[in-house]
Amino acid sequence: MCGIIGILYKNKHVATDLVKGLKLLEYRGYDSAGIATISNGNLLVEKDRGRIDELNIKLGFDQMSGYVGIAHTRWATHGAPDKINAHPHTDCDNRIAVVHNGIIDNYNEIKAELIRKGHVFKSLTDTEVIPHLIEDYIKNGYGFREAVLETVSRLEGAYALGIISLYEPEVIVGVKQLSPLVVGVSESGMYIASDINSLSPFTKDVIVLDDGEIVFLSLDGYEILKIANRQKVDKQPMTIEIDTQFADKEGYVHYMLKEIFEQPVVLNYSIRVQEHYLNLMAELLDRSKEIFIIGAGTSYHAALLGSMILSRIARLTAIPVIASEFVAQYGDVVSVDSSVLAISQSGETIDVLKAIEFAKSRAATILGITNTLASTLTRVCRVYIHQHSLPEIGVAATKTFTGQLAVLYRLAMVAGKMRGKLSQREMDEMKIEINKIPSIVKNVLDKVDPVVRELAKKYSKTKYFIFLGRGLNYPIALEGRLKMLEITYIPSLAYPAGESKHGPISLVEEGVPVVFVAPPDETRKFIIGNMEEMKARKATIITIGEADDTELMELSDDYIAMPKMNPLFSPIPYVVPLQLFAYYTAILLGRDPDKPRNLAKSVTVL
Ligand code: M6R
Repeated sequence: MCGIIGILYKNKHVATDLVKGLKLLEYRGYDSAGIATISNGNLLVEKDRGRIDELNIKLGFDQMSGYVGIAHTRWATHGAPDKINAHPHTDCDNRIAVVHNGIIDNYNEIKAELIRKGHVFKSLTDTEVIPHLIEDYIKNGYGFREAVLETVSRLEGAYALGIISLYEPEVIVGVKQLSPLVVGVSESGMYIASDINSLSPFTKDVIVLDDGEIVFLSLDGYEILKIANRQKVDKQPMTIEIDTQFADKEGYVHYMLKEIFEQPVVLNYSIRVQEHYLNLMAELLDRSKEIFIIGAGTSYHAALLGSMILSRIARLTAIPVIASEFVAQYGDVVSVDSSVLAISQSGETIDVLKAIEFAKSRAATILGITNTLASTLTRVCRVYIHQHSLPEIGVAATKTFTGQLAVLYRLAMVAGKMRGKLSQREMDEMKIEINKIPSIVKNVLDKVDPVVRELAKKYSKTKYFIFLGRGLNYPIALEGRLKMLEITYIPSLAYPAGESKHGPISLVEEGVPVVFVAPPDETRKFIIGNMEEMKARKATIITIGEADDTELMELSDDYIAMPKMNPLFSPIPYVVPLQLFAYYTAILLGRDPDKPRNLAKSVTVL
C-alpha cells in the first residue's frame, strides 16, 4: 500500500522522472499523490486527491523544478483520501518533507508529545509526526542526519520512508522497516523506490535494503547504516534485468485484459521453473512433520488448490491457511519440524510476512512461491521459486494466479516422484498433460472470449452472483467470486457446491445466476445433483463444462463450452472464463478493472 520514490540528479530536473516512476508504482495505491522537490533553496510541494495523470495536468507535477525530489502515491490508512492527508508531509517551518509507506503504530503518543511542545499538525495521518519529530530534534541541537536517526529509532510499526530537507538540500534519506525499499544507482543519479520495477526506466543496478537500515543518498554516492548501532553496512548494487514491456498495455484497453491474454505465454515459463529448486523444496516438504501452505486473497485460493494437489499427487498433507489467521489458528503447533510454504505474487503482503516472521521465530522452515524477485519474501525463505509470470499491474490477480497453480502442480509432481508415489511413467504422462495447458488456455481464450462478452451483457445488472464448484474446482469458484466482486462490486458468494444446501440456497430465487464450475471429473455426478437443486428453485444456471457434455448443457441456461483436457489440470483453464466474465461485467458497469476502489495491488498494512 502506497508507493514511494526519490530521485537525486547531478544536472537534470527530477520531476518528469518522478512522475514516470510514480506511474509504475500506482498499483500500490491511487487515491491521492504528491511530489516535493528542492529548488533554489525552497521546498516545493504539490499534492492532491486523484490519480497521477489527472494531478499531473492539474498541478503540473512534471513542471516542478529541482534536482532532488520525493514522490508518493497513496492508499489511505490514517485520514481520508484528500489533499491535506496526501503525502509528502512537512514540518512546521516547511523545511523537511517526508513520504511514507506503512503505518506508524505509536504515532498518537509522539503526536501528543509534539503538540504539547507547540508543533502544529495539518493532517490526520500517522506520517506527519515524522517531519515534526525530525524538526524537534534539530531545534534541540541535532544535525539533520542525527535528527533523522533519533526519529526513526523512536518509530514503531512498518515504514519505508523518503526524506528530503533544506538542511541538506542535496541529500535523500531512505529508511526501511517492514515495508519494502530499494536503492538504485546510475551514472546520472541516485534513487530510492518501493520496488525495482519503478526504477526500470532509469537503472538496472539496485540494492535491496533490509529491515532496520537507513540510506543517505548524495551526489557522492550512498551510505547505508544499521539504525540500531549506526554501523556502516557494505552493500554493492546487483544488476537485475527487468522486462520493461510490462509497463505497456500493448494495445489492450486495460492491463487486466492484457494480463489475461498473456497467460498462454507466461504459463509456459511457470511450468518450466528450474527443477533444481523444485527438488530442494520437495525434499524439505518431505522431511517436515507438518506443512502449512499460506497466502492472502487470490494467493490463498492457490494455496487451497495447492494443498489438494499435494495430497492427490504427492500424498503430502499440507494445511491451507489464510495468512492473517495463521498464528491464531496454528501458532501453537508450529515448530522446528514444520514447513510453511508462503504464496505471494508480490512477496510483500504483510499478513504473509508476519505469519512467516512468527514461524521463523519457532525455527520452522520457510519456503515461498512469488512473482517478485528481490521481494521481502525471497529474502526470508530457505528456498523460493520465482514463478516468472512477468510483472502484473492490474490489481486483480489473473496470470499470477494461474502461474502459481502451474508451479504448485510441478512441485506436487516432483514431490510425488521423490516420495515414490508417482512412477516414472506416471510422471512422464503428467508432464505431457501439463505441457498442453498453455495451448489449451490459448484455445479457451480464442473460443470463450466472445461467449463470455455476451454473458456479461446478459448478467451485468444482477443483484448478486453465486459461484459453486467441487473438489479441485472449489478454489476456482472462490477465485471467480473474488474476481467478480473486487472489480464489479456486485456482491457475490462462493461455496463448495455440496455445502450450498446448508445455507446459501436460501438466497436462491427466480433468476438468481448460479455459476457452476463443472469439468468432467469425479465430482461431476454430484454437481449435477446440485444443479438440479438450484434449478428446482428457479435459479438461472451458468455452467463451465466440457464442450460435448449434453447432460450439463441441458440443465444450464447458459453454457461455456471448454475443450477436452485432463481434469486433474482443469483448474487452470477453467478459471479463465471467470476472469473474463468479471472483466467484461466491470466494463459494462463503468468500473476501472485495473484500479478497483479501496484496493491496492500490494497490501502492506495489517
Ligand atoms: O501479492 P499477494 O499475492 O500476496 O497478494 C495477495 C492478495 O492481496 C491478492 O491476491 C488480492 O486478493 C488480489 N486483489 C486478488 O485479485
